[in-house]
Parts: sequence; structure tokens; C-alpha cells
Amino acid sequence: MIEVQHVTKRYGPLTAVQDISFSVAKGEIVGFLGPNGAGKTTTMRILTGYMPATDGSVRVADFDCHESPLEVKRRIGYLPEHPPLYLELTVREYLTFVGRMKGVRMEHVAKRMERVIEQTGLGEVKQRVIGHLSRGFRQRVGLAQALIHDPPVLILDEPTVGLDPNQIIEIRELIKGLAGSHTIILSTHILPEATALCERVIIIHRGQIVAIDTQEQLAARLRRSEQLRVTVKTTLPDMENRLQTVPGVIKVSQGESDNTYLIEAELGHDIREAVTGFVMTHQLGLLELAVVSMSLEDVFIQLTNQDESHANPGNEQARS
Ligand SMILES: Nc1ncnc2c1ncn2[C@@H]1O[C@H](COP(=O)(O)OP(=O)(O)O)[C@@H](O)[C@H]1O
Ligand SMILES: [Mg+2]
Repeated sequence: MIEVQHVTKRYGPLTAVQDISFSVAKGEIVGFLGPNGAGKTTTMRILTGYMPATDGSVRVADFDCHESPLEVKRRIGYLPEHPPLYLELTVREYLTFVGRMKGVRMEHVAKRMERVIEQTGLGEVKQRVIGHLSRGFRQRVGLAQALIHDPPVLILDEPTVGLDPNQIIEIRELIKGLAGSHTIILSTHILPEATALCERVIIIHRGQIVAIDTQEQLAARLRRSEQLRVTVKTTLPDMENRLQTVPGVIKVSQGESDNTYLIEAELGHDIREAVTGFVMTHQLGLLELAVVSMSLEDVFIQLTNQDESHANPGNEQARS
């Protein structure tokens, strides 16, 4: 459905995106994961035809973004970082206006509007002025404008940024509901968001793709340097060395408090049971046992420093 080939974008001397290639199949939901400044927005703007690439080609639904920009735009719903909302219009007025702008026929626009209002849960605020709505509702209006012309492809740029935790959950649920019937690319700098929503994750770093992972590969990547944090009531003399003798443990270090230890396990070893057993045997009183997952920063450190032995066999599409 989406075919990106060797796309580069330069802003004057700055190369924001360098030689990226990937494709997205029909009905897939793909995450574009990277820290601020990685090139996510730049790539999305190129995909939507908002801005041309310096080099390379993009095809959406078999149309070239450069040669047939209108055909491409008809098939894409775009939620930019800052949705272009008219704050003085009501939700219905705004969606009618955007629908007409996007070429929805007069006789269909009311029906489409009611449909997207229902899809995005805007029913209770549809008569209200957008400027009076909360951020969460405004983001829904942003999604509704992306959906109004019923496009098969959705490009969502950091759809949950700036929302509170409840609103984040609501918007995620909404996006999940759209998956399947739509091909979706969404960007995020939040690792758990990518794992929560996306079947496949494209990891972008300084304008280059460093990995393309499936959900399972990303999970494995995260598990790879999983640590346990254990807090006990009483410790043993020489506790760190003794924990080190638990099968599967490769490294133990002191945690934030005296009775807390960070334990690193061998690749693919779940050591939770063994560590619990150790604590029980010595009657140390288990206060906490938690898995400390990798942060996005850890993923990048791993990806950018990885040697051949750590190379992920599944990411042959990645270039570094
Ligand atoms: N219009 C622009 N002119 C010049 N530089 C830009 C412009 N837009 C983005 N950049 C730069 O390009 C890089 C990538 O930015 P962006 O695509 O916005 O990243 P992201 O969305 O991942 O945070 C950054 O270094 C940013 O400062
Ligand atoms: Mg951005």
C-alpha cells in the first residue's frame, strides 16, 4: 500500500532523512519510532505529499506522490503534529468544511460527518465550538478530519502527544479500532506506545532506519537486556556475589537502596523463579521483584553499538 524507496530530505545543509526505504502492506499498522529530531515528521510530510523529497520515490496505493499528488492525497488521511483546527467553528461546521475541501460531495458530507463523529466519539460535543474543547477532544476532531473523506491510509503524527493518561488510552483504543480497515502509519517517541499499537515498528534514528522489527522481534529486543529489580527485607553478607551464583545471572549491582539489587540475566533466561527461590531459601523477605524494561534510549544504544553477534536476523531490511 505504501512503498518508500531511497528517500532523502535535506533542509539546506541539514540532512533530516537519509536514504530510507520501507513498505507497508494493506491493513497493516506500523509504528515510526524515534526520539525528537529523528526525522519522523519529515518522512510523514513527504508521504502525504505536503512536501517533496530531495531524492527517492514514494508510492501510495500504486500512485507516485510526485506524479499524482491528488490521487495520493485522496487516499490519505493525515493527522499532523498540530492539527489545523479552526477554533471558532463548531465540530460539525469544521468537519463539513474539511469534508467539502477534501472533495466529499455536498449530498454525502452530512452522512460522512455523522459517521466520523460516531467513530471518534465526538457525539456529545458536536455542537460545541472547537476552541472550547479539551485537548483530548481536539485530538479526536483532528482524527475525524483525517477520516472525513474515508481514506484507506492514515498517517498519524504523534497522535497522543500532550494528552493526559486517560486521553492517551482513549485515543489508542480509537486507533486500534481503525486498524484492519485502514493502513496506518503512526509516529511516536514513546516505546510502550509502539509496542501497544503496532504490528511492525520502524526504528528511526538521526534520519536513518536502524531497524524494522515485528512486534515479536521488538519484544525480544527488549527482553534481551531485561533486568530484575529485587528488594528484600534483610540481606546476607556478600549478597551481590551470592546472587551471582543463581543460575542464569550474569551481573548483580546495588540498586537505589541498601536492600535493592539490580540483576541482569543471560539472553533468553527468565530468572524470576530462581531469584525468588534464592530469597525464600535464605528467608530474606521478598518485598519487591520487578522487571525493569528497556527504555527507548537503551534500544538505541543497543542498536547503534550492536556487533555482529547481536545483529537481529529479522531486520535484513534495516540499513545502518
Ligand atoms: N522546515 C525545516 N527546516 C529546517 N530543518 C528542519 C525543518 N523541519 C525539521 N527540521 C530538522 O530536521 C530534523 C528532523 O526533524 P523532524 O522530522 O521534525 O523530526 P521528528 O518528527 O522525528 O522529531 C531535525 O533536526 C529538525 O530540526
Ligand atoms: Mg515530529
